[in-house]
Amino acid sequence: MRLHAPLGWFPTAFGLVLHAALATADLIDNGKVVTLGDITYYAGGIPVSTLHGVNGQIVTGLLDIGADLLPLTVIHTNSSHFSTVELNSIVSTFLDSDDVFHTEFLESVYLAYDGSKTPSVDTQSCAPTLDGYGTELFMVGPTFKTSMFSGVTKVSFSKELPSGPYFMSPSTGDIFRAYRLYPDDYLAFISGAVSDEDDGFLALPAVTENVMAKSIAVPSRLYYTASADKPLAGLRLGVKDIYHVKGIKTSGGNRAYYYFYGTQNATAPSIQGIIDQGAVSVGKMGTVQFANGDSPTADWVDLHCPFNPRGDGYQSPSGSSSGPGAGMGAYSWLDIAVGSDTGGSMRGPSGSQGLYGNRPSTGAISMDHVIPLSPELDTAGVFARSASLWSTAIQAWYQNFSSNYTTYPKSIYYSGAAAGWSDVSETTPEAYALLDTFISQLETFLSVNRTNVNLTQHWIDTHAPEAPSDVNEMLNTTYAILTSVDQYALLGAPFFSDYAAANQGRTPFINPGPLARWRWGQANSDNSTYAAALANMTTFRTWWSTTGFGRPDPDSCSEGLYVYPWSTGTTDYRNRYFLATNHPPLGFSDWAVAGYAGAGEVIVPLGEAPYNSTVTGKVEYLPVTMAIQAARGCDFVLARLVSELEEKGILRPVGTGSRLYSN
Ligand SMILES: *[C@@H]1O[C@H](CO)[C@@H](O)[C@H](O)[C@H]1NC(C)=O
Ligand SMILES: *[C@@H]1O[C@H](CO)[C@@H](O)[C@H](O)[C@H]1NC(C)=O
Ligand SMILES: *[C@@H]1O[C@H](CO)[C@@H](O)[C@H](O)[C@H]1NC(C)=O
Ligand SMILES: *[C@@H]1O[C@H](CO)[C@@H](O)[C@H](O)[C@H]1NC(C)=O
Ligand SMILES: *[C@@H]1O[C@H](CO)[C@@H](O)[C@H](O)[C@H]1NC(C)=O
Ligand SMILES: *[C@@H]1O[C@H](CO)[C@@H](O)[C@H](O)[C@H]1NC(C)=O
Ligand SMILES: *[C@@H]1O[C@H](CO)[C@@H](O)[C@H](O)[C@H]1NC(C)=O
Ligand SMILES: *[C@@H]1O[C@H](CO)[C@@H](O)[C@H](O)[C@H]1NC(C)=O
Ligand SMILES: *[C@@H]1O[C@H](CO)[C@@H](O)[C@H](O)[C@H]1NC(C)=O
Ligand SMILES: *[C@@H]1O[C@H](CO)[C@@H](O)[C@H](O)[C@H]1NC(C)=O
Repeated sequence: MRLHAPLGWFPTAFGLVLHAALATADLIDNGKVVTLGDITYYAGGIPVSTLHGVNGQIVTGLLDIGADLLPLTVIHTNSSHFSTVELNSIVSTFLDSDDVFHTEFLESVYLAYDGSKTPSVDTQSCAPTLDGYGTELFMVGPTFKTSMFSGVTKVSFSKELPSGPYFMSPSTGDIFRAYRLYPDDYLAFISGAVSDEDDGFLALPAVTENVMAKSIAVPSRLYYTASADKPLAGLRLGVKDIYHVKGIKTSGGNRAYYYFYGTQNATAPSIQGIIDQGAVSVGKMGTVQFANGDSPTADWVDLHCPFNPRGDGYQSPSGSSSGPGAGMGAYSWLDIAVGSDTGGSMRGPSGSQGLYGNRPSTGAISMDHVIPLSPELDTAGVFARSASLWSTAIQAWYQNFSSNYTTYPKSIYYSGAAAGWSDVSETTPEAYALLDTFISQLETFLSVNRTNVNLTQHWIDTHAPEAPSDVNEMLNTTYAILTSVDQYALLGAPFFSDYAAANQGRTPFINPGPLARWRWGQANSDNSTYAAALANMTTFRTWWSTTGFGRPDPDSCSEGLYVYPWSTGTTDYRNRYFLATNHPPLGFSDWAVAGYAGAGEVIVPLGEAPYNSTVTGKVEYLPVTMAIQAARGCDFVLARLVSELEEKGILRPVGTGSRLYSN
């Protein structure tokens, strides 16, 4: 036996007695952390099936195995005469496609037949192969020919299970999912989660050795098969910890909030929606407190800021979707992550970690049961490491965007000059070259020439006569007012009052950043100011979609694309002190356009720029990224565009770790 269960010291002979006695004492089995072939696994505490002998008896022989858990591989076949050729081919497919399966799971094997004949096993060819794998128990389904050979045990399962690795309790026949435990070295997660095998989740009751960090449990990929119904089947999903998920506490990045509100009773419809498409949630991920804008050293008082793996590993991950961004940059075992974007909270981490990530058109998906910043601006986006996966995920997730367009946008509005990148000296030559090459390739791909634009000047030239003359003044405080007023009304005030009522009038701890923003909102806005801020935003939105750069088009959905540099590989060290902030972000520039226009925008990684790290004393590299925006509601144009750009080699998938690309 290579399996070491912590509870393995119970003498097996007393197993059944103990089981009965402990059951009456309400002892709950939360599963076990086990090591198999040097890999650490979590064997879920909730059985997904139970194995019986064909006549309902317990399988004789299993009780003699001196272990609490036995690794098990379930194999499905259509072959009515199963031979070693198929066995070897299945094992090699399993090894290639899954990081949880390992040949040690072949210690016991269950072969299920999916066809309609009476199946048998070519025992002569299989026996030596199974010996080679160390298989000690070979079981087949009830329809197999009886007169095969000794050593094959016929069994049935209370519920058929998909192929893959499992753990089996020899004493009860219970079968548990096999989860591989990965360390969260980058503090990207708040807590791991596993399915409760119903419609909710359980906080992962397993910790392994780490600096302040938890382990995250991921189930075998072999359990899931993508289909038209479930295009995201088996994709491991991380969820920013502002979305409520049934069975798990939500922190919002605040310890008092986490403990005070406790376990959530319902899953946000947005998260349920992506789970219904097949994604498998593996945990809740770090957020700037209440999705605001804290900097790592100065402001992350209540929790520690996740670590950005790029470059020297000590750059800010940006925020507020810091955990999802850091985790996607760091962990190849995590496929996609859901964050949110009110004023750049998806796009910031996409830029700092070099990921595909979007803020969708406002209203893309319900934001119910999510900690709010401002309902006028809050959106839910997806991070991925490839354009194709990002594209698949958003098209599966958002339900109400049209894809009836027949051509691509006919204009590229490049705000590169307005952002100051026309002059090579203002950024590194490497960043400039990446940005300019991409725009040139986009021009060729779309067969259009870029139009260099200056939004401020275009407003001066084209705004309605009755509208304010200075767009930068008109929108200077819009974001500050909408977010500070809304979040205080919807989150701050009720939290203070609920908390005070339960704690003899006490106030919960709030990080300096959100607290300053809420106070600023209370001091600088009344109902008429708020209404004016909203009216200014509407004025802008109307202009953008009529005479601005976000006009709808019947053929291409979006007449043009608004494109601007998002990150240029500049440093943002996390060990940098800042002065205390006493207000929300003010001012208006390209980052705010998508929000005020209600339009969708995606960040795409283009490459890396070198810098001399003050941490490592070596040249390290940071991502360079571009923002691409389409007219409101044309998010699927972006989805198709970036995935085609990737097929053409103009965009590339990124990897995990310090560098974006391994070659
Ligand atoms: C068995 O055949 C069915 C129908 O052709 C197919 O859907 C299924 O994937 C096959 N199963 C295996 C394990 O090959
Ligand atoms: C969950 O439901 C219980 C029982 O109704 C309630 O006491 C608790 O406050 C609810 N939790 C949340 C976070 O809403
Ligand atoms: C999507 O549909 C919702 C209602 O279901 C609507 O409120 C929202 O405006 C729509 N979003 C877009 C971008 O069309
Ligand atoms: C954009 O136009 C405004 C208004 O004319 C001007 O002040 C600003 O300098 C221009 N920006 C750039 C980058 O040229
Ligand atoms: C783009 O500009 C070049 C050079 O100015 C010109 O020859 C070409 O026709 C233009 N292409 C389009 C699609 O307008
Ligand atoms: C924006 O508001 C701040 C604070 O009131 C002010 O200092 C700044 O000058 C304003 N900027 C513009 C462009 O109006
Ligand atoms: C709305 O725009 C006007 C005109 O620029 C400006 O004076 C005012 O401060 C803005 N109001 C708010 C609340 O943003
Ligand atoms: C401001 O608006 C809120 C919410 O609509 C309302 O409850 C409140 O009475 C208003 N206050 C004033 C002074 O009009
Ligand atoms: C796509 O649908 C929209 C909304 O129904 C419509 O306005 C537009 O004309 C359609 N475009 C095409 C190319 O069919
Ligand atoms: C790093 O520093 C060296 C020495 O000062 C300098 O020559 C080099 O250009 C720097 N590299 C980058 C990428 O800034």
